[in-house]
Amino acid sequence: MRRWWADAVFYQVYPRSFADSDGDGVGDLDGVSARLDYLAALGVGALWLNPVMVSPMADHGYDVADPRDVDPLFGGIAALDRLLDAAHARGIRVTMDLVPNHTSSAHPWFVEALADPRRRDRYIFRDGRGPGGDAPPNNWVSVFGGPAWTRVTEPDGRLGQWYLHLFDPGQPDLNWNHPEVFEDLEKTLRFWLDRGVDGFRIDVAHGMAKPPELPDMVVTDSALLRNSDDDPRFDNDSVHDIHRFIRRVFDDYPDAVAVGEVWVHGNERFAKYLRPDELHLGFNFRLVQADFDATEVHDAIDNAIVAADLAGAAPTWTLSNHDVEREVTRYGGGARGLARARAMALVMLALPGAVFVYNGEELGLPNVDLPDAVLQDPVWERSGHTERGRDGCRVPMPWSGDTPPFGFSSNTDTWLPAPADWAPLTVQRQQDDPSSTLHFYQRAIELRSSRGEFTGSRVELATAGDVLTLRRGGGLVCVLNTGAVPMPLPPGEVLLNSGELIDGRLPPDTAVWVV
Ligand code: BGC
Ligand code: MG
Repeated sequence: MRRWWADAVFYQVYPRSFADSDGDGVGDLDGVSARLDYLAALGVGALWLNPVMVSPMADHGYDVADPRDVDPLFGGIAALDRLLDAAHARGIRVTMDLVPNHTSSAHPWFVEALADPRRRDRYIFRDGRGPGGDAPPNNWVSVFGGPAWTRVTEPDGRLGQWYLHLFDPGQPDLNWNHPEVFEDLEKTLRFWLDRGVDGFRIDVAHGMAKPPELPDMVVTDSALLRNSDDDPRFDNDSVHDIHRFIRRVFDDYPDAVAVGEVWVHGNERFAKYLRPDELHLGFNFRLVQADFDATEVHDAIDNAIVAADLAGAAPTWTLSNHDVEREVTRYGGGARGLARARAMALVMLALPGAVFVYNGEELGLPNVDLPDAVLQDPVWERSGHTERGRDGCRVPMPWSGDTPPFGFSSNTDTWLPAPADWAPLTVQRQQDDPSSTLHFYQRAIELRSSRGEFTGSRVELATAGDVLTLRRGGGLVCVLNTGAVPMPLPPGEVLLNSGELIDGRLPPDTAVWVV
């Protein structure tokens, strides 16, 4: 049976940055509800909300202190209920982020663990190595920089054990060998699914399980989440028991989707997460990692399809999210970066499977070079100011008007500042301009969801020089030109082009749909 998510267009809302309803300078859930007509007009079928649970916000919500309530910053749980009702009334599903690898250090379990050494087994505490236990238990590094261990001060005032945090010290890793950790996650899943949530994006789905002996890492300079094959921190075989457990809960909610954040190497390892009793979907990041190059894009698509096919699952596609540089900038920035981003959007939206559009992508937003003083991502501090972190892709959405914050908030002091030169990029301006990126996205999504040519899960890929041609069973042909000279179009009717055609030819940095 084909499920709703198998070819859905998901829209990722980074709630802090989407729309602020109460003037505190931070986006919130009533802000999302107020903009649902915009999302309905864009044609998206589902939302993915980054975490909105109760959190001290050390990692902007990925540090959860109460997994079964919504933070007052986002409007509390009543605001989520309002959003669920309003979205469902428009036929838009709502999925949330679930963070099972770690909690916040403000979670009652962790507070208890600090106060009482006998209550530490829900986390990963160890004695240190060397004289006085002064050295961390192993050489693991945090994904955000620095060691993955922090030493605690014991209730008697002496320095004592160390606890593991693959991310910020405010995000202690849970011990997934503890039955209460399982029980609590089940409670959390049922809590939200019973409330009408349509599924979850599962954070660090390749994490959670750690090898019991906690062996040293071989390579300690691995970049943000792009772990290597022999990284003992991630992709341990026993993680699949956890996914089977999660799936058993989901099976009581047959219309809900579980999509995992799975950063692993190799199609076979990826496919394991998508076996029939594990996740429904897995984020495949190959397209994010591919350069704007026909051969690289071809390989990325080919591998993502092969990986999903191995498990009989639907593939997933994404060009950006809240953790990576925005694609306009990745592809070179300026007019050229934008042209390429639009071309890649056509490629992505031509493909069978679930598509994830990150808020602002439909406006062609670039990454922002923010001044040091406003940076908030823990990566900036943890890396000793060597990595700027992810704030540049999280700048609040520009909605209207000519000056920051462009209708995002009634407060000019927003949590990250929008650059003054975004005035031409606002939703309002783009709605008035038929050639805008917003209109282009709208049209592409509309064609994708209404035309018969976009059916069929088979795709044929062919690359000749700098031209990638993709043919879908239903009759769609998508051609991408990553080279330097205009190329001939295939025969047929042009449905949509990402940039102007020149004398009936496909210019560089452009893609086209032909039927
Ligand atoms: C999320 C990040 C977050 C990290 C820790 C990730 O993979 O996407 O934004 O910082 O997990 O929870
Ligand atoms: Mg607010």
